[in-house]
Amino acid sequence: MMDASGLLLVIFAVMSTSECSETAEPQCNDSDQYPFYLLEGEAFYFVHLNLPKRNYSNEEVTWHRNNSRIENIYDENERIHCHGGALFFLNLLIEDSGFYTARLIDQSGKCKNYNVKIEVFEASRRGSTPLLWGSIDTSSTNKRIPCPHPVEDTCEMFGGNYTWYKDFNLLQGNHEDNLRIDSATKQHEGIYTCICTWTHNNKVYNSSGSRELIFKEQAAYLEVEILSPTNKEQFADEGFQIKLNCSVFCGINVKTVCDATWLINGVQVNQMDGYNQTTYGIMEEPSKKTISTAILTIETVSAKDFQAEFKCAGKGLYTTNYATLSLKKRESMIRMVIAAVSVLFICVFVALLVKCFAIDLALLLRPYLPLRSHREDTRSYDAYVVYETQSMDVVAEETLCRFVTQTLPSVLEEKCGYRLFIHGRDDIPGEDRVALVEDSMTQSRRLLVILTLGSGSEVADQHPSLHDSVTGGFDWQVGLHHALVQREMSVILIQLGETGPQGYKHLPIGLQHLIRKSAPLRWPESSRDAAACNSRFWKRVRYLMPAVPAKKCQKASVI
Ligand SMILES: *[C@@H]1O[C@H](CO)[C@@H](O)[C@H](O)[C@H]1NC(C)=O
Ligand SMILES: *[C@@H]1O[C@H](CO)[C@@H](O)[C@H](O)[C@H]1NC(C)=O
Ligand SMILES: *[C@@H]1O[C@H](CO)[C@@H](O)[C@H](O)[C@H]1NC(C)=O
Ligand SMILES: *[C@@H]1O[C@H](CO)[C@@H](O)[C@H](O)[C@H]1NC(C)=O
Ligand SMILES: *[C@@H]1O[C@H](CO)[C@@H](O)[C@H](O)[C@H]1NC(C)=O
Ligand SMILES: *[C@@H]1O[C@H](CO)[C@@H](O)[C@H](O)[C@H]1NC(C)=O
Ligand SMILES: *[C@@H]1O[C@H](CO)[C@@H](O)[C@H](O)[C@H]1NC(C)=O
Repeated sequence: MMDASGLLLVIFAVMSTSECSETAEPQCNDSDQYPFYLLEGEAFYFVHLNLPKRNYSNEEVTWHRNNSRIENIYDENERIHCHGGALFFLNLLIEDSGFYTARLIDQSGKCKNYNVKIEVFEASRRGSTPLLWGSIDTSSTNKRIPCPHPVEDTCEMFGGNYTWYKDFNLLQGNHEDNLRIDSATKQHEGIYTCICTWTHNNKVYNSSGSRELIFKEQAAYLEVEILSPTNKEQFADEGFQIKLNCSVFCGINVKTVCDATWLINGVQVNQMDGYNQTTYGIMEEPSKKTISTAILTIETVSAKDFQAEFKCAGKGLYTTNYATLSLKKRESMIRMVIAAVSVLFICVFVALLVKCFAIDLALLLRPYLPLRSHREDTRSYDAYVVYETQSMDVVAEETLCRFVTQTLPSVLEEKCGYRLFIHGRDDIPGEDRVALVEDSMTQSRRLLVILTLGSGSEVADQHPSLHDSVTGGFDWQVGLHHALVQREMSVILIQLGETGPQGYKHLPIGLQHLIRKSAPLRWPESSRDAAACNSRFWKRVRYLMPAVPAKKCQKASVI
């Protein structure tokens, strides 16, 4: 029996000791705060954000580090100590890094842990990223940089003094909790440090916090505007490559979303065979206009592309805009150029043809054209032939004789049906020469002047002007008078032989004037077809002759 009661006692005792150890390490609810990153050598005053604000006794709040109690914690001269719920680090060391807990056990015995992580960096790390209290990048030009709140709290608590630094250089005369910068520019960018100098138990301590100021340029997100394509249709050549330009304007200084892309029948082009899209964005300087461009390359335009709908999509941060484009067939540029060149060639060719064959053409068309003026002309001779009869060498005289008596009548009279009055052939001997010449001249429609210029200059010297000669001179005089003064007949000049060294100077002034107006026709004596009606020479003569030969019936009435 005694054994049993003794055993019970042992069990009771074990149970009670286990209860005791549980109260020594109570289960507490946790409350965490963001970690603090601090610099070695500085002071840090910390009150947990969630700990209710009141004056705590040293028994109410106990401080632990990594779950082990911090000793000597209430000695105000200790490097680390606590006071009424607050924790003081008077000169931070790297090895102070760790987890700190303020444990609060209230009257009802409820326990709560207020945890915080503290990390201490070497003094040389000042200004590095984890030590910065966020950055200020508002786009307003007037900026306010607040001193980081733990530093501010410390300064409030201990009546400390603020000093401000930019990139660790003192900013003179700034002792407010907020640093103000008016009309901020890019030059104001940098790391701003607020140092609070405070006194605790008659000793001076420093606490600092830094922020980075980033100058953000003004950005304007405008409604997306499609710059290209501007037309609904674009011409394209089937079988050729074409590039389509989708260009969109998103706003000023847009650094976020500004995309341009092509859709074919609503489908992205990225994976399509034969289509290739390249995109790029630009920001124009100094206007900062943000433009994105997508160039769609169609390797070879095919029939289905003319049916397809091409859509240029512009996507901005807030808006999206579209422009549709369809391709239209164009007659090949090359074909158009060929056609234009052909037409030009044909025109030039026709012009040349007309120029070369104007006379042939005129002769050819003569019978078909109405020539009223000629029909009303009742003169009985087509031409009055005058020629030089004096001061000639034998060869020239023979040539002239042959031309006047054989060639001229055989071609113009026999083959072409003209009536000529040839001086020396058609004048009846014994007739009144003056009356005859006058009469025949008025009855002739043309004056055919045959020039023989083969004779030397001495001849011209001996006979300064031809009209001095008795025989030929009168004809010439009357003929030129009719042609030049009365303008009744036009003159056809035919030249036999070469032009002499003195040219036409020995001829009468009136004749020289006519020669200047139209060059004489050279009789190609040696030419094979000289006597043929269709030779170039005779065509030119016929062209100058009346269109319709004088009628035979008129002959009777005149003579
Ligand atoms: C922890 O908090 C819960 C409710 O949030 C509460 O019910 C519980 O009693 C608390 N525990 C302690 C040990 O305070
Ligand atoms: C805490 O105690 C100080 C004096 O030690 C006193 O001035 C202050 O008013 C007290 N605060 C509260 C919340 O009781
Ligand atoms: C406290 O704990 C952290 C991680 O839990 C560890 O890195 C650190 O060394 C500890 N400090 C001490 C003093 O034990
Ligand atoms: C703060 O500055 C004022 C004068 O600028 C000085 O009188 C005061 O002692 C300073 N306080 C600390 C805590 O340094
Ligand atoms: C506090 O900072 C000022 C300037 O930043 C320095 O001159 C002074 O020595 C520092 N004091 C302590 C105790 O570190
Ligand atoms: C695309 O169109 C835009 C606006 O018309 C123009 O500025 C740009 O030069 C074009 N790009 C190409 C590659 O044609
Ligand atoms: C698309 O075009 C780019 C540039 O013109 C070229 O580098 C790329 O190889 C092309 N891609 C295809 C699939 O043709």
